[in-house]
Amino acid sequence: MKVIVSDSMEESALGLLRGTGAEIIYKPPSLEEALSDADVLVVRSATKVTDSLLSHSRKLRCVIRGGVGLDNIDQEACKKRGIEVANTAGASTNAVAELALGMILSAVRNLPRAHHSMKQGKWEKKPLSGTEVSGKTLGIIGCGRIGTLLAKKAHALGMSILGYSSPPLHPSTFIEFVSLEELLKNSDIISLHVPATPETESLVNADSISKMKDGAILINTARGQVINEDALYEACKSGKIRAAAIDVFREEPYTGKLLELENVFLTPHLGASTKEAQMRIGEEIAEKVRSLMG
Ligand code: 3PG
Repeated sequence: MKVIVSDSMEESALGLLRGTGAEIIYKPPSLEEALSDADVLVVRSATKVTDSLLSHSRKLRCVIRGGVGLDNIDQEACKKRGIEVANTAGASTNAVAELALGMILSAVRNLPRAHHSMKQGKWEKKPLSGTEVSGKTLGIIGCGRIGTLLAKKAHALGMSILGYSSPPLHPSTFIEFVSLEELLKNSDIISLHVPATPETESLVNADSISKMKDGAILINTARGQVINEDALYEACKSGKIRAAAIDVFREEPYTGKLLELENVFLTPHLGASTKEAQMRIGEEIAEKVRSLMG
């Protein structure tokens, strides 16, 4: 069985994949050419699995997304060609929840700005004074695996959790489910955990931002498509949104105007990028390849 891995993968995870006995082709110079006799294609978020890309395959049986989001895969095109689509749904849950939590703590205490300021030789103790999370309300939009785990971790830090999910997927003792309006109105910090779908496109826009508390904090480790960037830019500039921490973008790598703002801190889509998550992802991909080998 020939397996193409077209996006970056940790060496340890590749080792697990090689352990299946399948022929593993890692980052071939021409994906189109390599696909012609491949049985399995493994991707992360960088490779766009389009109908046109799939037209180069002759016997592809399965596209495995080493991760959660399937928005870079044309699932209809796969279906039409009889190609199965699989992902590693739970393998990166903890990594993303921890990143969101880290971003929350970093935002309320101005850590990225403090670091940057000290590197410039400054000692801005007073302007960089922050707030605490204990006693504050965290609004989680999207209460699937990641949102629910974040709720549990944030609850342990003394936060109250409001959740919005349509429909509520995983009832949780830590989350009070409310309407989106109520969540926007009552949350000190809002964290996004929904996939990119037509329903979630620009869910954070000028109108929804106007319903947020003045000085709310926004965290996005989900997908760039969930935010209208112009609206976020204006809100961060005016201080309506006190700070935003953003890990995901419509176009990646990101080079847009949010980079100009001091109260927006950005990371290059690091949600699932931990040793542990990539190892779990490798294990799940290897298991899937084994099952395909029958
Ligand atoms: C995912 O959907 O699994 C995350 O966004 C991580 O994407 P990545 O595999 O490209 O890091």
